[in-house]
Amino acid sequence: MDGSLAGRRIVLGVCGGIAAYKAVEVCRRLIDAGAHVVPVLTKGATRFVGTVTFSALASEPAQTELFGAADPIPHTRLGQSADLVLVAPATARVIGCYAHGISNDLLTNTLLATRAPVLLAPAMHTEMWEHPSVRDNVALLSRRGVHLVGPAEGRLAGGDVGAGRLADPADIALAAARVLAGVTRDLVGLTVLVTAGGTREPIDPVRFVGNRSSGKQGHAIADEAAARGARVVLVTTVERPVAPKVEVIRVATAAEMESAVLARAADADVVVMAAAVADFRPKAVAPEKIKKDEGLPEIVLEPTPDILAALGRAKRPGQTLVGFAAETTDVAANAAGKLRRKGLDLIVANDVSAPQAGFEHDTNHVVVLDADGVATDVPLMDKRGVARAVLDAVLARRGRTTREERDERE
Ligand code: CTP
Repeated sequence: MDGSLAGRRIVLGVCGGIAAYKAVEVCRRLIDAGAHVVPVLTKGATRFVGTVTFSALASEPAQTELFGAADPIPHTRLGQSADLVLVAPATARVIGCYAHGISNDLLTNTLLATRAPVLLAPAMHTEMWEHPSVRDNVALLSRRGVHLVGPAEGRLAGGDVGAGRLADPADIALAAARVLAGVTRDLVGLTVLVTAGGTREPIDPVRFVGNRSSGKQGHAIADEAAARGARVVLVTTVERPVAPKVEVIRVATAAEMESAVLARAADADVVVMAAAVADFRPKAVAPEKIKKDEGLPEIVLEPTPDILAALGRAKRPGQTLVGFAAETTDVAANAAGKLRRKGLDLIVANDVSAPQAGFEHDTNHVVVLDADGVATDVPLMDKRGVARAVLDAVLARRGRTTREERDERE
């Protein structure tokens, strides 16, 4: 656990679910790793485990009350002094309250009063975990940068088997260590311009030439960059939700994307072109819907402007340009060719024919190539994880080029 927990102040929130008994083990592991643990139990939790158990194991007595404790404002003190708020088990109720800003007990108040990272370890029955309201609440929190561990699949209370089992206490402690080790605001001071989604090139008022890009990867990059402290401008063709701090510019066609991107690129330290820009568009757009009885229409295509190539030509010193390459064959070689042709710093090569990767999936498997030939394989993971890896590669590249520029000057 590389010492990330030692000396760190962790508020351990425990909610009312049968898995609350496992929170005792989580508490013990955190203490063993040297953390300072302050347990906060909901009323429901106390029906499953006693406060005495936690008070005996933790660094401070367990707290349950918003009112009536010696401290008149316990939640602000807890929230402000925490290095991490870990909720294990996190029930549907507490997840829902936290997602919607509802504070009706000490734990939910503490969650809203903290600026520390928050790690949730959900546990509930499969039906509840899979309920659309819970899925939406978890997705909303995840977009806001809240960390999650589990749930795992396995035996649930009452003998059922399925998803919703609390992650293993050892995994929860490990996840807490990872969050504490990796809380990075390493993009503070940088402006990141991201594009997302596929463009739609009109044929007539109702039809278009388009592609299957969902925009999920570009939105994940925008969310991740914002969570790491960047000022983010997202030019997108899709209606997907995005972190509140991100400035969103909605466009539809390659031409609209080009003007939005070129207008904002000069200010950007990093540009990530994750959008699937159509390469061709109808030369003429029919002003009225083309009717069947007029016979088979002939649609003449023309190339769209290559936005990324234009950015490559206009690239200013200190700017990092990232392209995406959606390939189905010779992925690395094709991507490396694009990187050179378009004057990029990095290219994210995506085998869109691989299972569970590329368009429409929630997961992706990519290789990040940089202009010096450094290749980083990012194994199949969720698109937020891929976003993290892409931004790590951006920072690594910026670090290298800054060093080179400095060496050249000296
Ligand atoms: N791109 C762009 N403008 C275009 C087409 C693509 O900015 N008109 C960007 C994409 O956002 C992506 C990268 O260029 O980051 C790669 O796009 P792709 O279409 O795969 O590359 P091409 O060079 O057009 O090659 P091909 O389609 O033949 O594979």
